[in-house]
Amino acid sequence: MRVVVFSTFVLSLATTALASDGITDLQTMTAFLTDAALQIWSTQITNGTAAYNGPVTPTMDLIANISAQVNASKASLEADQNAFTNGQTGAVETTYLSYIDTIPTFAQAIESQGRTWHDEMNAPVFANLQSLGAAIQAYGSSLRRVQLISQTSMIRTIRAVSAVSNAQRSWGRPFNYPGKRSVIRNGLRGGAQRV
Ligand SMILES: *[C@@H]1O[C@H](CO)[C@@H](O)[C@H](O)[C@H]1NC(C)=O
Ligand SMILES: *[C@@H]1O[C@H](CO)[C@@H](O)[C@H](O)[C@H]1NC(C)=O
Ligand SMILES: *[C@@H]1O[C@H](CO)[C@@H](O)[C@H](O)[C@H]1NC(C)=O
Repeated sequence: MRVVVFSTFVLSLATTALASDGITDLQTMTAFLTDAALQIWSTQITNGTAAYNGPVTPTMDLIANISAQVNASKASLEADQNAFTNGQTGAVETTYLSYIDTIPTFAQAIESQGRTWHDEMNAPVFANLQSLGAAIQAYGSSLRRVQLISQTSMIRTIRAVSAVSNAQRSWGRPFNYPGKRSVIRNGLRGGAQRV
């Protein structure tokens, strides 16, 4: 499965992902994750598996991109907490909750791709989902350690990590999914054909 993330909004925000302001990081990641999930669903519905061979971003790269953004934001926090909060300590948690709540939606889209016929190899996606879960967990723990987020946010973080690990299970076979191509029409999957 490959995904196009073409929103210019997201593209322009993504270039600022390494900024040291944590609220901007969180907003950027929320927009990126929301856009990526929408792209995955709309590609499945519009094009079925036909889209998977297009000039688009492999799932493994998309996931690595998100992990890199999460890790970069964690590094910014650890480098300079004042720059990270930028005088808006209270806004961190609200923004964090928006970000963490997009993870299960994104993970479900990735899980659905793992269960559908795809020509991308499973192992790199599986490995990158493992890193993404670790990145999300570590970022949440760092924010919690300096009390920028509450215990409630940590509980949601744990749920988000478990959604990522469910998605990982759907990419758990050693090679790619060997089954059938299927076409989704009018929101229903049907008309399966042998590859
Ligand atoms: C569906 O495929 C067409 C032709 O390859 C492409 O132009 C279009 O962007 C795809 N749509 C989605 C939602 O991926
Ligand atoms: C993540 O993806 C965006 C949009 O495709 C790109 O501009 C950015 O350079 C990527 N970042 C990393 C760290 O790969
Ligand atoms: C991000 O951090 C996690 C946890 O420390 C690590 O497992 C992962 O490899 C890192 N990912 C990237 C893309 O740097």
